[in-house]
Amino acid sequence: MKGILLAGGSGTRLYPLTEVTSKQLLPVYDKPMICYPLSTLMLLGIKDVLIISTPRDLPLIEKYLGSGSQYGIKLTYKIQEEPKGIAEAFILGNDFIENSSVCLILGDNVFSFAGSVNEVKPSSNFTGAQIVGYHVPDPERFGVVEKDSYDQVISLEEKPKKPKSQYAAVGLYFYDNSVVKYVKELKPSLRGELEITDLNNRYLSEKKLSCSTMKRGSVWMDAGTPESLATISDYVRTVEQIQGLKIACLEEVALRQGFISQNEFFKLRNNIKEGSSYRSYLDKVLVNGKLT
Ligand code: DAU
Repeated sequence: MKGILLAGGSGTRLYPLTEVTSKQLLPVYDKPMICYPLSTLMLLGIKDVLIISTPRDLPLIEKYLGSGSQYGIKLTYKIQEEPKGIAEAFILGNDFIENSSVCLILGDNVFSFAGSVNEVKPSSNFTGAQIVGYHVPDPERFGVVEKDSYDQVISLEEKPKKPKSQYAAVGLYFYDNSVVKYVKELKPSLRGELEITDLNNRYLSEKKLSCSTMKRGSVWMDAGTPESLATISDYVRTVEQIQGLKIACLEEVALRQGFISQNEFFKLRNNIKEGSSYRSYLDKVLVNGKLT
């Protein structure tokens, strides 16, 4: 499976934070926001990722993450000229996807799984599309998913006034290769965007849309507003302080996933200037050749 990380948009709700920089490079406690969705893709075992962003922001993101080879993954980059909708990622990613299945993650979505990412991972032979639900107090702010006891989706509505469930459809989506065909059939919505919910509803009309649910204790947040950005930063800080383990430390994830060797990990650590707590953290991840 390949991955697409959509990190564009205008960041309007975060003005003035986004006046001169990318929303997805803003700090979520101790790391740029984009580390969180990228680490989720890596934990899913995805090593081939297309990052899409705006003409202004893509060069900065590329400067930060580079080719990805330092983490044992392959990153490629594509510009989205204008925010014409989340589903446009599959038009822009047409050549990248080739014959693969594909996972899309939104660049402002932060995940922290209580156990492992397996709670949302589709089976290796899955067909159709799979979305992910998360219980929230304010479902009307999101896509809202209603499903049956077999995890089949009954309805999916974008920001409904009267939500049919308490479950938000989070910004993590899995598709088989028919996404390439279905996205070309979509028409822009009234607000002029190719809507991800319309794409998912296309799968629903074929009875091919399932939904996994994130467990209690797992955390998802869309960090797209000042409030949610502060809340998720507080959460990361609290967990990291209590547990002494970082969320979304790309070097650590790459090592634990077996994407890089211990020597490559040391090289990454040595490239960080002395004096940062991040470098000291890496020293605690691997002690005497053993993962702690
Ligand atoms: O966060 C989950 C929600 O994301 C879902 O529950 C909704 O169903 C889904 O439509 C989406 O809702 P948002 O209102 O959060 O979408 P927004 O327009 O804010 O875009 C989400 C991210 O995708 C944002 O970081 C910017 C990026 N984006 C968005 C558009 C429309 C792009 O990179 N390009 C785009 O054209």
